[in-house]
Amino acid sequence: MNALITFQEYLCEYSEKFDGLAGSYDHTINNCSELESLIDDYSKFITNETNKEAWKQLELQESSDLNQLVMNLRRKSALCVAIMEKFRAIKLLDGNIEKADYFKNIESCIEKEFGSFQITSESKVLLVGSGSFPMTPLLIAKRTGAEVVGLDIDDEAIQLGRNVVEKLGNGLNIRLEKTLVENLDFTRNVTHIIFSSTVENKYDILDQLHILTNENVVVAMRYGNELKSLFNFPSKEVDRQKWKMVEEILRPDHVFDIALYKKA
Ligand SMILES: C[S@@+](CC[C@H](N)C(=O)[O-])C[C@H]1O[C@@H](n2cnc3c(N)ncnc32)[C@H](O)[C@@H]1O
Repeated sequence: MNALITFQEYLCEYSEKFDGLAGSYDHTINNCSELESLIDDYSKFITNETNKEAWKQLELQESSDLNQLVMNLRRKSALCVAIMEKFRAIKLLDGNIEKADYFKNIESCIEKEFGSFQITSESKVLLVGSGSFPMTPLLIAKRTGAEVVGLDIDDEAIQLGRNVVEKLGNGLNIRLEKTLVENLDFTRNVTHIIFSSTVENKYDILDQLHILTNENVVVAMRYGNELKSLFNFPSKEVDRQKWKMVEEILRPDHVFDIALYKKA
């Protein structure tokens, strides 16, 4: 019981810290190292084996207050990760870059993203939620030569992202756009789609993409269930007339897992 109370106290503490740091973002790198260490710490917390048991106990309580706390943590941590990408972009553009553990974790994950449906130089890749530091487009374009389009809803993320791509992705076929999948011609011809884990409405967009895409498209949905749902939007049932899950890439040591979908 004590362990459970401590676990809940940790959750409340994280929630307050995320609020404080997100609220103080002023488009400079003030508080950058505090936020980086908080996110690194939180990444360890949600991949820690011993916290899994506490999570299971907590779920059994079925409390609406708790559900609200979990939903808030998901949204706040997503916002803080987006801000951390801004910090990383600003530092790179100012000529000063380091690699926080969170980024190492994500970058090693990208290699395995499409399981048996590998990206080639002929592929056309769409990323929903490209962020201010578009690591996924850069790595994919660099390693495979594929054409990559990243979408984001945040003006600042698009602007910083374009500057980062200009600096790191010279000659690579990468475009970042603030638009919706239905307004992008590229959507019709994409071969691979990746959803960032922290895009809240990713399953609604997946549903919508069914009619907008070709027969052979493969979708990598990043998600986090159970304990990892404190840091990711979880997986959901899909319309089985539209999509079927063809592979699940579970990564116990990583912040998110990946479900691959093809058309049913
Ligand atoms: C921080 S980044 C990428 C984080 C991490 N690599 C991941 O997999 O979640 C997530 C980005 O998604 C963007 N985003 C959130 N909802 C979105 C949506 N509906 N469409 C496009 N971008 C979205 C945010 O603005 C943010 O820049």
